[in-house]
Amino acid sequence: MTQNREPIGVIGVGWVGLVTASCFAELGHPVVARDILPDKVASLARGETTIHEPGLDELLARNAERLTFTTEMAELLDAARLLFVCVDTPPTRSGDADLSRVRAVIEELPADGEHVLIMKSTVPAGTGEAIRRDRPGLPYVSCPEFLKEGTAVADFMHPDRVVIGADAGDEAASEAVAGLYEPLGGDLVRTDVASAEMIKLASNAFLATKISFVNEIANVCEEVGADVGEVARGMGLDQRIGPSFLRAGIGYGGSCFPKDLKALKQLAGNTGYHFQLLTAVIEVNELQKRRVVQKLNNHLGSLVGKKIALLGLAFKPDTDDMREASSLVLAPRLQGEGADVVAYDPVAGDAARELLEGVELRDSALAALEGADAAVLVTEWSEFATLDWSDAASRMARPLLIDGRNFLDPKKLVEAGFEYEGIGRATEGAPSTATAD
Ligand SMILES: NC(=O)c1ccc[n+]([C@@H]2O[C@H](COP(=O)([O-])OP(=O)(O)OC[C@H]3O[C@@H](n4cnc5c(N)ncnc54)[C@H](O)[C@@H]3O)[C@@H](O)[C@H]2O)c1
Repeated sequence: MTQNREPIGVIGVGWVGLVTASCFAELGHPVVARDILPDKVASLARGETTIHEPGLDELLARNAERLTFTTEMAELLDAARLLFVCVDTPPTRSGDADLSRVRAVIEELPADGEHVLIMKSTVPAGTGEAIRRDRPGLPYVSCPEFLKEGTAVADFMHPDRVVIGADAGDEAASEAVAGLYEPLGGDLVRTDVASAEMIKLASNAFLATKISFVNEIANVCEEVGADVGEVARGMGLDQRIGPSFLRAGIGYGGSCFPKDLKALKQLAGNTGYHFQLLTAVIEVNELQKRRVVQKLNNHLGSLVGKKIALLGLAFKPDTDDMREASSLVLAPRLQGEGADVVAYDPVAGDAARELLEGVELRDSALAALEGADAAVLVTEWSEFATLDWSDAASRMARPLLIDGRNFLDPKKLVEAGFEYEGIGRATEGAPSTATAD
């Protein structure tokens, strides 16, 4: 890889920070990455990855010489002038984004005109302007991140677009950031700070809207006997619509969509504007997770004393991230109905253990299904596609599967002896009018 590239500083080494640090190291930049958690920094310094993200281990190992992990801001400031801020911006109780970590970082940065603050954390529109007002002399560039957990490395290395927002006076800083991304290709969107901030929030809001939209279509499909998979296929071939984010299921979760939608809704509300559409998108998503319980009721009647197996717990496959995972709503709802919940996830078991009180975690899908009255596929891990479903059926007290991600082949499941029901899916052998026994 190219030598003598400009050193880079990364502040906050979570999903975004670690991927940013590793990928810039891969591009040949020396990178100093700082986090406030000493254990995390120590693990990374030993070469141990702290998150499950495909390709990341290899990237860290290959670029170990170019990567330094530290708890010391001074070390980072000495080494680099371009500083990517990647700290978390979780929701507050009011739904607004909590910017306390961002503020803590900014207080540590010198306004010497030398160092450049590059904001990768997702922040409400207006944040950059406020920071520039408070800290003149600290060049500010908004560079929101669009990576997806599970494919984060590939997304970073092959971006659809890179958004770089800067206001008058920060042209040189903006140019320097554009130079960093040049080797990656992808469209470069150069704009002002507020627009860059809004591009990030609007993109997530739009994707979540697509999901809630197709979920509502799925719910109507169930009523009229249509198949949402067919409907989405037919819709998605229209280039104005496109096929992505049209898979019906039990709704979105994760560290971004739920909080970013709330933050955008509150941002609008704070200016006196009621963002009606977003309110509906959020509500549809909440209700969608709960529809699984009704489906189980339709088949099993009361869930008291019934053993329900959850397959997959992480908010999506190929990650161990449990933030806002659908399983965190579903498991307690089922327990509330009196069910005993057992679960299996290929990688998120440890992360889930503390969050899912009273849920028995098993170390394989078949072990979770043993003696179960029903199973719910919550996360579409690829290993579930190749599970021996005939074996699974023989182990269950009642081979009933609710496919919360429309991930499995209904025909195969029915052949394996299952009663199968997806979301908005017309299924031979599993009429949506199935009644309780
Ligand atoms: N995770 C995603 O898929 C994703 C995608 C795009 C954008 N984002 C946005 O990027 C930001 C980071 O998200 P994440 O998922 O990587 O968060 P994360 O919680 O995984 O990581 C944040 C890290 O910042 C560290 N930190 C907090 N305060 C610090 C400080 N003062 N100095 C140094 N480190 C500090 C934390 O210890 C933690 O390790 C958020 O604003 C998020 O919305 C996330």
